[in-house]
Amino acid sequence: MDFSAQFEHYRQRVERGLDDLAPPAATRPTRLHSAMRYSLQAGGKRLRPVLTLAVADLFAPADSGSESKIPDALPAAIALECIHTYSLIHDDLPCMDNDDLRRGRPTAHRQFDEATALLAGDALLTLAFQLVARHYAGTPALCAALTRTLADAAGSEQLIGGQMADLLAEKKADATAAELEYIHLNKTAAMLGAALVAGGLCGGAGEAHLATLRDAGRHLGLAFQITDDILDATADTATLGKTAGKDAKADKTTYVKLHGLADSRHYAQAHTAAALAALRLLPGEAPFLTALVESLTERKN
Ligand code: IPE
Ligand code: IPE
Ligand code: MG
Ligand code: MG
Ligand code: MG
Repeated sequence: MDFSAQFEHYRQRVERGLDDLAPPAATRPTRLHSAMRYSLQAGGKRLRPVLTLAVADLFAPADSGSESKIPDALPAAIALECIHTYSLIHDDLPCMDNDDLRRGRPTAHRQFDEATALLAGDALLTLAFQLVARHYAGTPALCAALTRTLADAAGSEQLIGGQMADLLAEKKADATAAELEYIHLNKTAAMLGAALVAGGLCGGAGEAHLATLRDAGRHLGLAFQITDDILDATADTATLGKTAGKDAKADKTTYVKLHGLADSRHYAQAHTAAALAALRLLPGEAPFLTALVESLTERKN
């Protein structure tokens, strides 16, 4: 199967998984569950859950004959996308980045209202852990490892800590490259690394491979957020599906602000190369994952 067809296959599994595993919109209170689904089903690249599914397949291919013993990675993949979507809903709130557009649609607080958006985010974060607790109860060690991986990545020392530091670095004239790297590693790379590690855990990867996945996630995450900073400065709103030029307007500390466009592109390339080098240490040199990471260098949104 070629790369695009394989990606589409994973993406469709994710879309079906979201539909099956998120509470129906008709669940009481319908406004809350409608808002959760509104943000979850607004599109999005589905990068994190696709990474989880692809890594799990790398270690435990579905045609290996041992399928029945291998826990399905889909609930873990959906849990990752729930946490990611919650982080976007909250990131867009007026008290944070104050954005009107997300995934090509009005942001959750624009479509509903601020309180509903806040609660929908809270509920998606909670749903992630509910999914892990429910779907991996039969494999307690895996359940504990997934819980820890997601909680570490989403917590105050990683994703939320990175978001806090991002806000504190607004309008800061003397922010350092090290502070910026802390922000990017935590607000973005942590969740991409967790997506890779969750796939490894579901596929039964050993500690050496899990360390390789963490290393790949670190570099992929830095490349991904540097590219996000570049796109904010260079792409148009329609293509991005979110408001272009908002980082400069808010005077965010970004790679573009600190290093300029040319050096930012260089850093993105260097981290992509490092991520690819790590991925090649995985079984079979991980052709789908390397093609996916290569494709991100060309991404338009
Ligand atoms: C946006 O993530 C937030 C960042 C970490 C840069 P994505 O670019 O993966 O957003 P979606 O999921 O495709 O909307
Ligand atoms: C990443 O940073 C945000 C999260 C980790 C949620 P940004 O604030 O740059 O993300 P976008 O550009 O709004 O998607
Ligand atoms: Mg932000
Ligand atoms: Mg933002
Ligand atoms: Mg951005």
